[in-house]
Amino acid sequence: MNDLFGDELARWKPIEKAFFDVFSDFGFAEIRTPTLEHLEVFVHTVGDTSDIVEKQMYTVKDQSEEVLVLRPEGTASFMRAIIQHQLFQLAGPQRFFYYLPMFRHERPQKGRLRQFHQFGAELIQDASPEADAELITLMDTLLRRVDLQQFRTRINSVGCAHCRPPYRTALTDYLNDHGKQLCDTCKQRMERAPLRVFDCKNETCRRITESAPKMLEHLCGDCKSHHDNLKTRLTQLKTPFEEDPLIVRGLDYYCRTAFETTSPDLGAQDALGGGGRYDNLSVQFARPSIPGVGFAIGMERVILALQTSGTSIASTSGPLVYLAALGKRAFDLLFPLSFELKRNQIRSEISHGFDKSLKNHLKRADRLGCAYTIVVGDNELANSTAIIKDMKSGMQDNVSFEDLAQLIKRKATRVPQT
Ligand code: HAM
Repeated sequence: MNDLFGDELARWKPIEKAFFDVFSDFGFAEIRTPTLEHLEVFVHTVGDTSDIVEKQMYTVKDQSEEVLVLRPEGTASFMRAIIQHQLFQLAGPQRFFYYLPMFRHERPQKGRLRQFHQFGAELIQDASPEADAELITLMDTLLRRVDLQQFRTRINSVGCAHCRPPYRTALTDYLNDHGKQLCDTCKQRMERAPLRVFDCKNETCRRITESAPKMLEHLCGDCKSHHDNLKTRLTQLKTPFEEDPLIVRGLDYYCRTAFETTSPDLGAQDALGGGGRYDNLSVQFARPSIPGVGFAIGMERVILALQTSGTSIASTSGPLVYLAALGKRAFDLLFPLSFELKRNQIRSEISHGFDKSLKNHLKRADRLGCAYTIVVGDNELANSTAIIKDMKSGMQDNVSFEDLAQLIKRKATRVPQT
């Protein structure tokens, strides 16, 4: 669990802003659910045999001996909220997004934390393949908006309540015949969650599962037509994708579409995001089916992929203008100017001491990464002018006090600000 501050946090800001903008462009409204939920929200929904429920949940017993969980993922909490507030009674599709911390007690490694942040999107009350295409396209757009390019989106269908049970039997039969060399984890999964063997990274297991029967070959007519229509729509929308029968996802609530986006810049934990359709999740809350589809992107992984690929992330949270007042009289003049600039959305910094050393001021402006420094000392006060120094080129001009604010505002509009 990381503390976030300084340059590291500054890298997050433009990405957060870009993602909020994209969600707004796509018509998704924000939802914030509490960090703590009742245990039941996750147990049967995410799945009794899922890694999350089996070993990763942080639980808390409160004063009344009730077991609460620090939210490990957003979809089950989202569905709990939709049902609690009866939002499913509003007619037609509804679009939501969230940006929230998640908690999983996993073995920490590069790109895998115990508290991490997800940007998630959920579209409910729409069972069409067009809704799936919309969500996959939204995820693609989010990642491209922050200049990630080297990612691949793989899609699959995990079938439905009609076609999955017979497929499960076919897979279990195959694994029983060929599974002697499977790793211990897969041997355990064979019984309780056979599809999860496709998730295993072990070479031998991979070789065995490569020739195993695949869900795609066992889809019922409705699931096949849903999947084919999804592919047609994605092609129409020019959203790049690959079909991959090995994408099964580790959460139980999925039906039909499942997808995952990976980046070669991430190492072993290479998933930038993933999602799928969950038409029967609401049934676990003893409600009729509320069809839905969604995904979540791991914010820490986006940052990591951008850093590894060398994509510059504009970090413009520092001040744009530094005001160097060489003495008290100069400070009296520049102090109000610094607030005039802030009120006009121009980030400025003024040192509160009355340091007379220009060298010290310039050093500080440099360290803060300011684009411009305004200098006012005794000479400038005598002439009613200020020096404006471009910190990158080193060029400087003398401007009259009267023109100073206008000139800075003009210059500032040429430097992108967040
Ligand atoms: P998930 O695949 O478990 O899906 O997580 C989505 C993303 O969260 C992953 O692709 C990864 O980027 C990030 N992530 C997961 N665990 C960690 C971790 N320990 N440290 C850092 N990042 C992590 C879900 O959570 C589903 N609720 C997505 C969804 C929404 N499906 C439908 N709607």
